[in-house]
Amino acid sequence: MNVKRGNPWNQLPAGVLIAPSLLACNFARAGTDIDGVLAAGADVLHVDIMDGHFVPNLSMGPGFAKSIRKYTSAPLDVHLMVSDPAYYAERFADAGADSITFHIEAASEPMKLVERLRKLGLGVGVTLKPATGHETLRLIVPAVDMVLIMTVEPGYGGQAFMKDMLEKIRSVRGMLKPRQRLEVDGGINPQTAGWCVQAGADVLVAGENIFGAPDPAKAVAALRSAGKSQDRGAKAR
Ligand code: DX5
Ligand code: ZN
Repeated sequence: MNVKRGNPWNQLPAGVLIAPSLLACNFARAGTDIDGVLAAGADVLHVDIMDGHFVPNLSMGPGFAKSIRKYTSAPLDVHLMVSDPAYYAERFADAGADSITFHIEAASEPMKLVERLRKLGLGVGVTLKPATGHETLRLIVPAVDMVLIMTVEPGYGGQAFMKDMLEKIRSVRGMLKPRQRLEVDGGINPQTAGWCVQAGADVLVAGENIFGAPDPAKAVAALRSAGKSQDRGAKAR
């Protein structure tokens, strides 16, 4: 194993970050789609990994991440929706991930996994399904760079935002230090992005809203300006 890239969450600027979800790009022209969103100012590429077990769907494997790693130096934010995050974390670290986010529901030894990812020099995120209470994260939160609040049931892109997750976003923001990131994922568009940022989110993942748009670059810009207009916490962070 030879992972030499740094933790991206320490290097990215403060304020709202935009993370297009590659799950929604056209896999037959992923490079072109990536170029488009990066030229439009996207900060991070979100890579959704599904094992058909933790969630009822399959997506891409380490081979896809490896190809993307060779193609771009943009930070790769890997979201593991898998039953064995400790095993797959190693595979995606090898493939060139910069940060790995695992589900608290799936990790048998979450602190051990965080320590392993730290040893590899990666950023670390923890996430939870909509039905999992934020109190579950209490012990792990001080050890991570980022908490990801799922705002849809994980497994599919293109679902509607769950408005009752805004309360969870507020609660988790209250658990975080200013330097820690709060990411939201699922049903994010300019309207829901504004709500999330107002509630304390500062990393916006969006799939369909960006890659399903007639002009993905415009969609990135619209998310950014929606985020900016609601980012009252940025100065404090
Ligand atoms: C859902 C994934 C999301 C998904 C978001 O399981 O974790 O990252 O791609 O897709 P949209 O933005 O289309 O809801
Ligand atoms: Zn995701």
